[in-house]
Amino acid sequence: MISIKSVLIADEIEQECVDLLQQNGLKVDKKIKQTEAQLCELLKNYDAVIVRSATKITAKILESTAGSLKLVGRAGTGVDNIDVKAATLHGIINIFVSGPLLKNKNAGNSRSAAELTCTLILSLARHVPSAHSSMKDGKWARKDYMGEEVYGKTLAIIGLGRIGQEVASRMQAFGMKVIGFDPIVSADEAAKRNIALKQLDEIWPLADYITVHVPLIPQTKDLLNRETLKKCKAGVRIINVARGGIINESDLVDALDSGHVGGAAVDVFTEEPPTFRPLVDHPKVICTPHLGASTIQAQQRVAVEVAENIVNLNNGTGLFGA
Ligand code: MLT
Repeated sequence: MISIKSVLIADEIEQECVDLLQQNGLKVDKKIKQTEAQLCELLKNYDAVIVRSATKITAKILESTAGSLKLVGRAGTGVDNIDVKAATLHGIINIFVSGPLLKNKNAGNSRSAAELTCTLILSLARHVPSAHSSMKDGKWARKDYMGEEVYGKTLAIIGLGRIGQEVASRMQAFGMKVIGFDPIVSADEAAKRNIALKQLDEIWPLADYITVHVPLIPQTKDLLNRETLKKCKAGVRIINVARGGIINESDLVDALDSGHVGGAAVDVFTEEPPTFRPLVDHPKVICTPHLGASTIQAQQRVAVEVAENIVNLNNGTGLFGA
């Protein structure tokens, strides 16, 4: 049976995580903003490391700490900042919150990501950020910010997991028609949530708004690109609170410049902080600095969930106390 006695916290994580681990007799240290080389040395002294999204647990780190490090915990959804292949090779367990094994209906940080998505959809429809900036500049430009109702518009949700479903129910309350794509959700399951399941090629020409809620994997990299954007309705609005790289940033800027895409709201970037300024600086783009999971409630939940998972593993009760 696995036994975790010492944990390094390598990113900013709420104190609840530290408290819970310490109350259960684990030694916990916190060292953030460590380089790859520093982590290669440091993690030789710990059984587990907990990260959020800033720290990348690379193959090099996993290789240098093989034999000592036993577990990588992610206080977030998915494991895309962890080299899972290398971890598996070295017998290192990966755990993350909001995973398919989750029994806790509070859903880690999914609700917060869904709420930010809905905020951005409405902000795009009503030009809230630019109207706000204009007023702060001393203007009263009512004519410049004519918006549109989202009522009756079609929202396409690519990825009908926990976050996608939470976005659907909230935007349905605004009267949006929801269509979606997910390779592992059946049409019947989607229909129970009033979502019309479609193939991607059917979705592009139908959607007024497209939001992506999929992990960044080879199959989803550049999912929205020059070709797929061309198939979309003129004026479509695109939202990405999932992962940078799912939408090709330079193709998106071209489509915004040509007017084919009417606007975009972007919370996540291919590189973070973003180095591709034409996207961030574009007048039709609303952007936020990877804030999907940044709420007090979500951060408390993920901190506790990741710690509970480690304690449960130590107690032999399995993940989520199963
Ligand atoms: C997540 O994937 O859960 C979030 O992006 C984590 C974070 O905000 O660091």
